[in-house]
Amino acid sequence: MGVAALDPSYEVQLAMRLYVSVVLTRHCYPRRFPSGRLPMPDNLYDALRESHELQRSLLRKLLRSKAGTQDRISLFKEVRIELHAHEAAEERYLYVPILMDDMGLSSSRHALHEHHQIDELIEDVQKLDPAGVAWVEKAKELSHKVHHHLREEEKKFFQVSGKILSAAQKVKLAKQYRKDYARMHKVLAAA
Ligand SMILES: [Fe+2]
Ligand SMILES: [Fe+2]
Repeated sequence: MGVAALDPSYEVQLAMRLYVSVVLTRHCYPRRFPSGRLPMPDNLYDALRESHELQRSLLRKLLRSKAGTQDRISLFKEVRIELHAHEAAEERYLYVPILMDDMGLSSSRHALHEHHQIDELIEDVQKLDPAGVAWVEKAKELSHKVHHHLREEEKKFFQVSGKILSAAQKVKLAKQYRKDYARMHKVLAAA
């Protein structure tokens, strides 16, 4: 028997540690997933990237669609709604908060300008005949612009904003972004 086991204060310490670990596990820590992992709070950048991936996938399908088909028309509507919903919610819950900080001024200004350019390209495509060559050229231009913008956000603007926003803000803004993004989708689909 070790010296430590004979020391009553050692046993008290062990009991205290056991009690604290049981109490913390039951009452303080968040519930675990069935896999045993602790749930992570939703992050603003994960929410934004989900939409970016959707945009890339929809644009890929749009450029592969057959000229003048219903499939092309439906895909374009999906692209338009997705881009507009994402832009609006992103402007409100990423770019407005960082615009208020001197460090975020240039990035937010740049991003909002590109959103406007994307909107103009969407309008240009909408005016063209989906069966024509000019439609394909303009849709490619839109796709190129969106891809450039997403890359710049993911490589630059997210990093800049990451230094401005606190961890608590990122969690709160993720919730607000998701709510507004879903609402905008409904509003645009019903229009
Ligand atoms: Fe954007
Ligand atoms: Fe974005």
